[in-house]
Amino acid sequence: MRVIIEPDYDSLSKWAANYVANRIIEANPTPEKPFVLGCPTGSSPLGLYRNLIEMCSAGKISFQNVITFNMDEYVKLPEDHPESYHSFMWNNFFNHIDIKRENVHILNGNAPDLIAECNHYEELIAEAGGVDLFMGGIGPDGHLAFNEPGSSLSSRTRIKTLTTDTIHANSRFFDNDLSLVPKQALTVGIGTVMDAKEVLLVCSGHNKARALKHCIDGDISHKWTSSMLQMHPHAIVVCDEASCDELTVGTYKYYLDKERGNL
Ligand code: GLP
Repeated sequence: MRVIIEPDYDSLSKWAANYVANRIIEANPTPEKPFVLGCPTGSSPLGLYRNLIEMCSAGKISFQNVITFNMDEYVKLPEDHPESYHSFMWNNFFNHIDIKRENVHILNGNAPDLIAECNHYEELIAEAGGVDLFMGGIGPDGHLAFNEPGSSLSSRTRIKTLTTDTIHANSRFFDNDLSLVPKQALTVGIGTVMDAKEVLLVCSGHNKARALKHCIDGDISHKWTSSMLQMHPHAIVVCDEASCDELTVGTYKYYLDKERGNL
């Protein structure tokens, strides 16, 4: 695992965006061999998306030959609801880049058969040749996508019931009214994310310190599902100083020294 420690949210967002842009540029995608990008929602990736939008507007990067698969979507929230992950993605990213509408994939939480929808999503990812780079955030309870504590670490795309922690955390998008937060979501599994060739997580702020500690500095556990990334051959966590507050001093120094070339 690579851990990149940046001073603050702006610099971690820039680092992550540059990394993703370079990966796409290096892959030199074509319609026959597109680049497959996994996309998260949440506040954490907003800066990363803003930087990618700027690079695209400046002509430094194109998404013409990029196919995306989003991580998750609420169940039974109308697609055009302002807090649906469909709305989030189009408002904060897709509407501002040159991606083709047909190349965007987001789980349909209103599908008549939710299990079939999840199975079909896995098939679509496989047909696209697998995900080249899965971007992600970390929930305060350590979850990845909506793989809540207790999720199988080999899970595939499926329906998950949200934990009380997550319902509280996400209520900030629903007028702080817990009753308005959907109680279930469709989500790619930990196994789905683990199959990606690369995974890049962004993590920012003191309220993520406990989750980051368990993700990179604790044991692999289904209680902290992002910790499974310790088993991934190409995982990168890009974090800021504030989110490092609970790492051991040794871990913190090791990753800083490694990236500075002091080791
Ligand atoms: C939601 C999403 C996750 C995201 C998490 C953290 O639960 N399903 O993919 O990582 O929120 O969000 P934020 O970045 O806003 O803290």
